[in-house]
Amino acid sequence: MVDLQTSFAGLSLQSPLIIGSSGLTRNLNHAQAYAEAGAGAIILKSLFEEQIAMHTEHLIAKNDYPEANEYIASYVRSEALEDYLKLLREAKERLTVPVIASINCSGMGGWTEFAERIAEAGADALEVNILRLETGLYIDPAEIEAYYLSIVTALSGKGLPLIVKLGRHHSCLPMLVDKLRAAGAAAVTLFNRPYQIDIDLSREQLIGGEVFSHEGDFTETLRFTGLIRGQVPGVGISSSTGVYTWEELTKALLAGADTVQMCTAVYKKGAEAISEALKGLRYWMMDHGYQNVSELRGRLSYATVPDPSLFERIQFMKYFGVRGQRD
Ligand SMILES: Cc1cc2nc3c(=O)[nH]c(=O)nc-3n(C[C@H](O)[C@H](O)[C@H](O)COP(=O)(O)O)c2cc1C
Repeated sequence: MVDLQTSFAGLSLQSPLIIGSSGLTRNLNHAQAYAEAGAGAIILKSLFEEQIAMHTEHLIAKNDYPEANEYIASYVRSEALEDYLKLLREAKERLTVPVIASINCSGMGGWTEFAERIAEAGADALEVNILRLETGLYIDPAEIEAYYLSIVTALSGKGLPLIVKLGRHHSCLPMLVDKLRAAGAAAVTLFNRPYQIDIDLSREQLIGGEVFSHEGDFTETLRFTGLIRGQVPGVGISSSTGVYTWEELTKALLAGADTVQMCTAVYKKGAEAISEALKGLRYWMMDHGYQNVSELRGRLSYATVPDPSLFERIQFMKYFGVRGQRD
């Protein structure tokens, strides 16, 4: 019999498979079904800084008394927070697996106060999804990094293990992750998947792109899981984006993930996606003679594979040169 128990960010989980932050976890009947299917933890839908700001702007635009603007802003924030805390408390009452709260921010907002309230409401950990896309011509990347660190420094020490959810677009991810670890992050989630864009050719208009991830999105998740596991000891890694079956789950663990998140697969297949992935992992472990997850975790990370340069290879030249193939 294989044992899937996992430690992650100071939490004890029944399995390494986590349900990623999304509308999936807003419905607690569904969240309970995911836990019964074997999920190790659930991450609640995020409390969005952008959503609070937009709602505030909308109410202020309709308000004829500018002296009330400050009151409106603080009312919207506290209402959004109270709704979130209610969901969190209910989730904690109903679920037997750890409940991870989530905030989604691009700036400091009032998140330090929120983190304290979230800790008081009983969350087991906090995932902070820092979603920024720098587009200015005169922005210094070092200042951006410092900004990420300042958010983590402000949020750490609030009584909750902190998990930082990152995007792929950074100058040097291992270095950033190491600095986040030093600033107090217990773990990182690699990666978030930002809002996508597309073009509608018939109307010649810019439109929103596909909400769900697709096959192929997983390869960068795998690359950076292995690279960071091998280079930044002492930080937990939750691999996210493009995990649909036991195969991606097992690969991410071999590359060094502590936990692996699923979102799109659960939207498409429900709780079955979880039970099937865990069943596949168990069979594979039995077949390969592993009894617990820690035995296989990180066996193929940047630090452990015979040729780590494979993780760094991004050009095809070498491949074509060796094989003499061109297509
Ligand atoms: C409908 C939907 C809603 C989402 N909502 C959130 C959210 O509230 N907060 C967050 O951090 N990520 C959110 N995400 C991103 C997912 O947590 C995840 O990072 C992304 O979908 C990639 O994982 P996947 O390939 O398993 O779908 C959402 C994704 C989807 C599809």
